[in-house]
Amino acid sequence: RLDRARRSIDAHARLVPDFPEPGVAFKDLTPVLAAPDGLRAVTAALADACAGAELIAGIDARGFLLGGAIAHHLGIGVVAVRKGGKLPPPVIGVDYDLEYGSARLEVPACGIEFAGRRVAVVDDVLATGGTLCATLDLLKQVGAKVSDVAVVMELSGFPGRARLEAAGAGQVHVHN
Ligand code: PRP
Ligand code: MG
Repeated sequence: RLDRARRSIDAHARLVPDFPEPGVAFKDLTPVLAAPDGLRAVTAALADACAGAELIAGIDARGFLLGGAIAHHLGIGVVAVRKGGKLPPPVIGVDYDLEYGSARLEVPACGIEFAGRRVAVVDDVLATGGTLCATLDLLKQVGAKVSDVAVVMELSGFPGRARLEAAGAGQVHVHN
């Protein structure tokens, strides 16, 4: 499964130089997910990493595509971790710092049983780790047990994985 996902990423990912900042080469997964074999291969690979979860949390916005597909593959539910201001109340949220300014992530404060449940967090890319660390904070606040963190790839030159491990993320699965 990992090999199929890797082949698909190699075949379809687009390398964008100097994005999001000069000197960084960004791998855009959009064409991978647009290819039928790519979506299926990446979904299967990440689903293996999330096999112990009872609920998938997909991070706004690219993590939605993967989160829904993985949850469907595993036959479990999915919840969208939304950027601030998108969900109807009541919500519970975390604010976190970006290089310039700040951002907010939210989940519903009622209607979804998080407490004591094993939740796997899914996103496309790990860079600074800010988005995933904030999501871990948020899930901790609602009492969920994060079973796994799965991303398709990490950008080199960023401290994301070390930050996640320091935040107690447990096993971080990366497929690049
Ligand atoms: C991108 C990417 C990850 C995040 C990784 O999302 O999809 O979610 O950045 O960066 P970090 O590790 O430094 O937090 P972004 O919020 O840019 O846009 P999106 O809404 O298109 O997913
Ligand atoms: Mg994102």
